Amino acid sequence: MAQLWGGRFTKETDKLAYAFNASISFDRRLLPQDIAGSCAHVKMLAKQGILTEQERDAILQGLESILVDVQAGKLQITEQYEDVHSFVEANLIARIGDAGKKLHTGRSRNDQVALDMKLYVRDEIANIDEELKELLQTLLEQMKANRDTFMPGFTHLQKAQPTTLAHHFGAYFEMFRRDRGRLADVKKRLNLCPLGSGALAGTTYPLDRAYTAELLGFDGPTRNSMDSVSDRDYVLELLSALSMVMMHLSRFSEEVILWNSNEYQFVEIDDGYSTGSSIMPQKKNPDIAELVRGKTGRVYGALTAMLTTMKGIPLAYDKDMQEDKEGTFDAIDTVKGCVRLFSGMLRTMRFHKPRMEESAKHGFTNATDAADYLVNHGVPFRDAHGIVGQLVLYGIQHHKALDDFTLEEFQAVSAVFAQDIYDAISLETCVEKRNTTGAPGSAAMDAEIAEAEAYL
Ligand code: ARG
Repeated sequence: MAQLWGGRFTKETDKLAYAFNASISFDRRLLPQDIAGSCAHVKMLAKQGILTEQERDAILQGLESILVDVQAGKLQITEQYEDVHSFVEANLIARIGDAGKKLHTGRSRNDQVALDMKLYVRDEIANIDEELKELLQTLLEQMKANRDTFMPGFTHLQKAQPTTLAHHFGAYFEMFRRDRGRLADVKKRLNLCPLGSGALAGTTYPLDRAYTAELLGFDGPTRNSMDSVSDRDYVLELLSALSMVMMHLSRFSEEVILWNSNEYQFVEIDDGYSTGSSIMPQKKNPDIAELVRGKTGRVYGALTAMLTTMKGIPLAYDKDMQEDKEGTFDAIDTVKGCVRLFSGMLRTMRFHKPRMEESAKHGFTNATDAADYLVNHGVPFRDAHGIVGQLVLYGIQHHKALDDFTLEEFQAVSAVFAQDIYDAISLETCVEKRNTTGAPGSAAMDAEIAEAEAYL
């Protein structure tokens, strides 16, 4: 056990307590951030005359060599250390001797870990954003390819009005675009550097916090040192934004699963993204979509856990906060994996266009358009609604779509109907006429696609 304390203690930590307290098994992934933070700290200490230039250079080289050796597999991060911070310090001292003991001057693990976690979250926001951008790219391609893939639009999971697959995908485009915006907001607010806040009350050394902040790409130093070491709001904001990404992916997965079912047969998920059954030879299951839907739970879980962890913690740093890591790491890994797999599944999915179009033609999705036809011929909308309602009832009783009615059947309910009703309620017309901003008509859709292209 390589401990960072000892002077005040007369006894070793109980073995179980030591293991319970240790975070090395999971905070080892913060090594690059921990080293980057230490390098900036040391440069600042030397600039302020707290370390000599020789000490600075020795420490910087030592830190760099630790990172290189770990990444090359030459140096193992073992459970012998309590956390990544003690691992780095112990190895630094082993490599460069006494100068290494000066690294922690004017610093506490409290501001150190606050910094490491912020750097990590900031790095991962960029990575997740890349994955989301890739997903949006895939969506845009599918939108372009499916501008006239007709399908029913649903409300209450009941066929409502006809639309296109491009329009349906455009809805998800907007959701993931907002998700990117939320992540950008998280970064904006978190981007102040906590280093130099010490344990909680700053330090007596003449640190230049603005300089350290600048070296690490922050917009400036945090303002209050107690807040700096006890703030995990940005972790919660991240988990909340990630929960929303998963909520969107989960809704999308649910639709893909429905569409891929024997009953819908709107799409076929590629073999590369499906699995079979050990007993039923005919099965091809949408496991990837189901897992994306299922994994939403663990990301929500991370958010709920962290909200609960933070709710009773007095200022400033308390060890409870070490619990910010595992759930967050898991949520980040989960979201990146899910977004990437979903993109792949979407890119390779086949769409059964005739089947979707056929489905759009049934279920009276053009009933609103039939009512609008009457309105255009002077019938008040509420009366038109009633007339078409009667037609639909007749259609259900006689197993007929409105398109298949004879003109006499239309006119039996209202004399206003004429031959041009057929064109007015055709699938093409129903979609094509809807050209208000954001609607599926081709003019509106072209504008939406052009805007999406400009955004990406
Ligand atoms: N492993 C700790 C964490 O993740 C590092 C900070 C420890 N600070 C302390 N005063 N014990 O929060």
